[in-house]
Amino acid sequence: MRKRIIAGNWKMYKLSNQAADFAEQIKERITTSDKVEAVICPPALYVTDLLQRFETSAVKVGAQTMHDTDEGAFTGEISPAMLADLGVQYVILGHSERRQYFNETDETVNKKVVAAHKHHLVPIVCVGETLEQREAKETVSIVSAQVEKAFADVTAEQAKKSVIAYEPIWAIGTGKTATAEDANEVCGAIRHKIETIYSKEVADAIRIQYGGSVKPENIAELLSKDHIDGALVGGASLDPEAFVQLVEAGT
Ligand code: G3H
Repeated sequence: MRKRIIAGNWKMYKLSNQAADFAEQIKERITTSDKVEAVICPPALYVTDLLQRFETSAVKVGAQTMHDTDEGAFTGEISPAMLADLGVQYVILGHSERRQYFNETDETVNKKVVAAHKHHLVPIVCVGETLEQREAKETVSIVSAQVEKAFADVTAEQAKKSVIAYEPIWAIGTGKTATAEDANEVCGAIRHKIETIYSKEVADAIRIQYGGSVKPENIAELLSKDHIDGALVGGASLDPEAFVQLVEAGT
């Protein structure tokens, strides 16, 4: 039985007092559960503050990206060693916005996935197709290739601990959600890909989220599907009430 994971990706939203307010509002409402875990991925500047605020809460803190090396002359970057040192447990890697605006490629995503595991950070590896690719019926081949490249040189034990987020690009921030059936079909294809790379054991263990306009109104149906183990949530995760409801839907 895979533990569900609801992760909020705040992207570049909220000022520090808003981040603090959010944490104070949810920290006691989200309790430890063996069915679901809750992760907030704030802008990097707020990671330390949120780690402190969630110290006695079940909410975990993740980063939205990182560099692939431990240290170096890379102005503006944060390293996996720095995140691990602070107590961060998750890191989103290869989000489509990183691929689109910051030149991330399957190769750089792979380096980061390997680096995350080196530091015992759980990578949330994002894959997904564009609308053109979906219309050309290329979805499964595109996401399978992204998965294969992202997991190069990742061991079976590391893969088991990883999370994959299937986020169709056309559904991100648009209000358009893939139907639960379509999302499940692609998540199932991703699981099958993991089985062909590793084994059934790894495929059964790895957690696959859906992301793209997830909100309290549609989460239950998504989570009712066999291959969907949680959600990577953008917009709705900015609202404390909605985030609590999303996590509760996983229990
Ligand atoms: O990382 C989250 C995704 O990009 C989804 O964002 O829930 O605002 O569509 P959204």
